[in-house]
Amino acid sequence: MCNLLKEEMENRILSPSETAEDGEASFDNPLRPRSLNEYIGQEKAKENLKVFIGAAKIRGEALDHVLLYGPPGLGKTTLSMIIANELGVNIKITSGPAIERPGDLAALLTNLAEGDVLFVDEIHRLSRNVEEILYPAMEDFTIDIVTGKGQMATSYHLPLPRFTLVGATTRAGQLTAPLRDRFGVILRLEMYSNDQLASIIKRSASILKIDFDDEGIYEIASRSRGTPRIANRLLKRVRDFAQVMNSGISASIAKEALDKLGIDELGLDAGDRRLLETMIKFYSGGPVGLETLAAAIGEEAVTIEDVYEPFLIQIGFINRTPRGRCVTSLAYHHMGYENPRETK
Ligand code: ADE
Repeated sequence: MCNLLKEEMENRILSPSETAEDGEASFDNPLRPRSLNEYIGQEKAKENLKVFIGAAKIRGEALDHVLLYGPPGLGKTTLSMIIANELGVNIKITSGPAIERPGDLAALLTNLAEGDVLFVDEIHRLSRNVEEILYPAMEDFTIDIVTGKGQMATSYHLPLPRFTLVGATTRAGQLTAPLRDRFGVILRLEMYSNDQLASIIKRSASILKIDFDDEGIYEIASRSRGTPRIANRLLKRVRDFAQVMNSGISASIAKEALDKLGIDELGLDAGDRRLLETMIKFYSGGPVGLETLAAAIGEEAVTIEDVYEPFLIQIGFINRTPRGRCVTSLAYHHMGYENPRETK
């Protein structure tokens, strides 16, 4: 990726990837809900979790291992912290790429207390040799460690405390079958509706002591592409505009601020529009292969798949077909083009 585009991507206010300012993994982020009752949306996942957590507590056992999957920014880290909080145990937070060697995982596991939660974000990115240590740890709560080399090698078979692994991934399909099969609870997180996002933004605005009216909040919600992380980020940016105008957040201020940030009324930014425009202008709306599209707009294929597409598919602007990606008539109209394939 060329540097300019990379920078644009990293600065992208609509990127669902977490930034330091989001502070979600931080324990003292005031916007982070701390209990399932405070957590808005994901009703199905919440309902199931309440039962499983309640049952584990009644039995005095560790909760079964949980896999959370879905697009980025939907609150997988937040939910894992809530799980630990509801269970009344400690949580250790790490990620697949951060666990480089089997010894790193062994150190994490042997430092857990009975019932603790180990949260592994991007669990699909664990290396194979680390993953193999995880199988007996998850299944039998034991770990085999080898120290030394050659004739000096000694292997240890250590018991572990009964812990709960909470794994998170944007790509459940990339998990190996043996890993996936070791999760007792598999929960898919869904994109949020505008009403749910409005409730989240209202809650955040109240915590941050920001004046608002309902129309202002709804304006932000409808441009947050189904993602609480983006909603909270846009709230903070709109607050900046409101403050310098010595005002609360109204619909007109939110509209003006978001227009200035280049975010349109559906929540699409310059990157989304470039993707759609490229598909329409250079590939007649598709089908176009993922790799071809990635080369055409100078992004990596995984960025298109994980960052751009989930929302564009959700709002019916892009279809994935076996022959490639296609733009729909809805997207043609939104971008101000006529769809030549549309029957009149
Ligand atoms: N902040 C981010 N996600 C949230 C959620 N699902 N509920 C409440 N506050 C949130």
